Parts: sequence; structure tokens; C-alpha cells
Amino acid sequence: MRRSLVAGNWKMHGSGVMITGLLQRLVQGLGAAEDGVEVVVCPPAPYLSLSQDLLRHTGVQLGAQNVHAEAAGAYTGEVAAAMLVEFGVRFVIVGHSERRRDAGETDEQVARKCAAALKSGISPIVCVGETLEEREAGNADSVVARQVNAILQRCDDAALLNSVFAYEPVWAIGTGITATPAQAQSMHGLIRSLLRESSIDLAARTRILYGGSVSAENARALFAQSDIDGGLVGGASLRPEEFITICKSVSEQWKP
Ligand code: 13P
Repeated sequence: MRRSLVAGNWKMHGSGVMITGLLQRLVQGLGAAEDGVEVVVCPPAPYLSLSQDLLRHTGVQLGAQNVHAEAAGAYTGEVAAAMLVEFGVRFVIVGHSERRRDAGETDEQVARKCAAALKSGISPIVCVGETLEEREAGNADSVVARQVNAILQRCDDAALLNSVFAYEPVWAIGTGITATPAQAQSMHGLIRSLLRESSIDLAARTRILYGGSVSAENARALFAQSDIDGGLVGGASLRPEEFITICKSVSEQWKP
């Protein structure tokens, strides 16, 4: 049985005061919901230390939004996986479409980041997803397959057992337009079948999250799909009451 996971990607939002209030409210409000769902928050890097302090002895885990592929070196402005480990980071987002678009990250670079995270014992949350243009051209499946296969080619199956995948259609991110549960399930099914070609165990155990305008209203129907194991939540993760509702709607569907 895969344990559901909900991760909040705060992107470039927050301040010390705002994050302190948000995390206090979150920890308070989640209560026993954590029994059925793993909850992760991914603050901007400068707030990892503050977040680590606030999350000590709570069930909420810490994630980062990016990592460099190399262990150390002359890479101004970058952060290595071992540095994240020092701040209690357990998960790291790699290959988010905003980084593929704005920082020009290639499938190969994303796969190298994924390998670096795994080597340091951090679970990568590998983001894949097609643009609207690619979907309209009928290429959604082939784009996502290419992105997933780049990971499978670089990282070995045993290491990947600690990874998480996230299907985030680019056209659904921050737009308020969510993939329908059927659209999302279809892509999640494809991703799982690609994992299965590599390893049956990997396919059975890997969590595949959906991301893209997840809200308190649509979370339940999305998470009810058989291959959707939770969510990667952007905007709604900055609103504590809504994020708690999303986490609880996954938790309620969990059958140990
Ligand atoms: P939104 O939930 O704001 O659409 O963002 C999704 C996302 O990009 C999470 O990584």
C-alpha cells in the first residue's frame, strides 16, 4: 500500500513572519490527519532553518525546491544536497516546469539532480508534464514519457524506490484550470506503466502526485483515482485552512 503524500510548494513566497504563522497554524490544524497522509512543505531556501526549527517534533516534513547536481564546487548561488540534509530536508522538488522554462533545465540535468538527491538520502519529487501547446498537438504522452524515461535511464531502480513523481500539466499550474480526474488518471497510469517497464516493484511502490490548481474543491475527486497518490500543491498551500482541508481529504481516503 502506498502512503499518500501531500507536498506544498511555496515557490518564491513568504517572509519570516508569514512562514512562522503559517507553520504554526498548519501543525495545529493537521492533528491526527497525519496518520493517513505524509505532509511536506517546501519553503524558499533561506527559510529552511527557520522551518526546521518550527517543525521539530511535529509530523510535518521539510522539503526544498531545488538542488544542484554536483556535490560541491564553484557554482555561485547553488545549493548542494548535503547542505539540505543539514537542515533536515527529506524531499526536494526537481524538474519543476518553472525551472525547466526559466532556468532552461533539460531532462538530462533534471535526471542528474534526481541522482544527486537520491545519493544524499533525500527523496526527489520529480516533476513532469506537458505544455498546452504539446497537449493540443497530441504530444502530451510522448513528452511525459520522454521526461520519465530520462530519469529511469540515469538512476537505478533500487535507488528510485525513494523517489516520488509528480504529474503537473503546465497548463494547469496557477491557472485555476485543473486536469479532470480522468485526464490526470490517464497520465498517471502511463507514468506507472513506464515505471513498470523498469521494475514491477518500483511501479507498485512509487507515489505519483498530481499538481496543477489543486484546491479544497477538487482534491477529493482527484485523489480518488487509483494511480493518484496525493498532490503537489502551489497556491493553496499558502492558505493554511485550505491546505489542511486538502491533506484531510487524502487522509480520509486512506485505507491501511
Ligand atoms: P498551483 O497549485 O498554484 O497551480 O501550482 C502547482 C505547482 O506548480 C506545484 O508545484
